[in-house]
Amino acid sequence: MCKKMIFDILTLFPEMFHSPLEGSIIGKAREAGLIQVNLFNIRDYAKGKHRVTDDYPYGGGKGMIMKPEPIMRGIEAIQSGNPEARVILMTPQGYPLGQEMVKRLAQLAHLILICGRYEGVDERVRDVVDEEISIGDYVLTGGELAALVVIDAVSRQIPGVLGDEEASEDDSFSRGLLEHPQYTRPREFAGRKVPEILLSGDHQAIEQWRRQEAVRRTWKRRPDLLSKAGLSEDEHKIFDELKGSSETD
Ligand code: ADE
Repeated sequence: MCKKMIFDILTLFPEMFHSPLEGSIIGKAREAGLIQVNLFNIRDYAKGKHRVTDDYPYGGGKGMIMKPEPIMRGIEAIQSGNPEARVILMTPQGYPLGQEMVKRLAQLAHLILICGRYEGVDERVRDVVDEEISIGDYVLTGGELAALVVIDAVSRQIPGVLGDEEASEDDSFSRGLLEHPQYTRPREFAGRKVPEILLSGDHQAIEQWRRQEAVRRTWKRRPDLLSKAGLSEDEHKIFDELKGSSETD
């Protein structure tokens, strides 16, 4: 039996999740019961006639802040039956999401993702949050798209969500290198040819070429990754050769 992963989402805009969770691989994973996504509207946990979820910042300043009580009540309601669920706040101030973090989260059975809006959430919400995640150094209009990114990236790590072949495909990236170039038919398109070596049938040579191109691409585009990547002896050699040549991409 494959394990099922549960994502509980606390948001003011549950409708933002509908279409992205319906189609393609994520839709199929939900149908197969490999993942489950439950949407909770923060407004449902707000009290009073107007169910207010935001208010002005103490000390002044622009914009509105999300009130703590509705979010806290929402977390409590979800957690009441699932005390082990990990509570995550989506925020640009969080720890950066990367493939390592994705793999760690995929080991868990239950995530509660809180989507902030406006100028952020009342600081006291952070007291009940286990971790804070940012999907990049830019500010979105809310945490919804960030939560969808987490759901997507984590789900594809769950056994059964991708086919076996696809599942091994991110090996190169999880080792800290960018993926090598890929080609499909036709052999020649608008005067651009597929590299001869990929048509050679020489699997060893193809593997060597792919590693070389992965190292080259990473070096050109993300040298920061290269210093952290666990390069094999072979790849080190490739890298040294690339550095030695004056060639550019
Ligand atoms: N909410 C707004 N911007 C965000 C970001 N970059 N990551 C996560 N949540 C966010």
